Amino acid sequence: MSREGCVGVFDSGVGGISVLKSLVAELPHEDFVFFGDSANAPYGEKTEDEVLELSRANVERLLADGAKAIVIACNTATSVAAATLRREYPDLPIVGVEPALKPATLAPKHDNILVMATPITLKLDKFHKLAEEWGSDSTIIPVPCVGLAARIEHGNLDAPDLHDLLERLVGQYRGKVDSVVLGCTHYPFVARQIRDVLGDVPFFDGAHGTAKRLRSLLEAGDLLKPEDEDGSVTFTTSLHEPGELDLYDWFFHQPTD
Ligand code: DGL
Repeated sequence: MSREGCVGVFDSGVGGISVLKSLVAELPHEDFVFFGDSANAPYGEKTEDEVLELSRANVERLLADGAKAIVIACNTATSVAAATLRREYPDLPIVGVEPALKPATLAPKHDNILVMATPITLKLDKFHKLAEEWGSDSTIIPVPCVGLAARIEHGNLDAPDLHDLLERLVGQYRGKVDSVVLGCTHYPFVARQIRDVLGDVPFFDGAHGTAKRLRSLLEAGDLLKPEDEDGSVTFTTSLHEPGELDLYDWFFHQPTD
């Protein structure tokens, strides 16, 4: 790996752009290549074998683009594939993202914590271990948000159908939770819309922790680019439809909380 390489970042689609924003803020001198597998989104409702195969292909693609490190900007792909990928690419720094249960349980008000994530993320061991490790003082309420990531992929985030979907998914918890963990990287793009449904409670996501972890791995491997160099962001996608990359750029400029 050379420090001149880029940082390859992937997700099932636009969601990982919420993580990318934190990565760029933390490491503005790096070159980032983002790959959104929008042609295969959503991952969270596929089988684990499918997500593992897609994740492997995404890593290979980003290595071909010159990646010196990989960020799996997807809770689902991290839960399914991170450990296997680290075994298969022992010399490649690989950073994943996980539901931010730790900061949520350490916050002053933490009795009832709603965790919004994909069905796979909530089913797998990684989430159960996190809940066991950090959740002993809290009631953790997992909500598999079927259909939400796929809907966010289409943009138009203030449309009534998206509000109705959020109302169906989490409306019953209005006034009943102390915080919300956004355990899917698509969801920070609708944080404001989720607050419209749930009320004004603190939100937690894994983007900041992921950015810090990437910095420490690049530092440890002597892979940080010099601070007098300008960084860059390049978007790539598997969905070859007109306007798709413009949509990615639009998401990059959206607020995430
Ligand atoms: N953004 C992804 C995550 O963090 C996956 C969403 C999906 O494709 O289902 O889980």
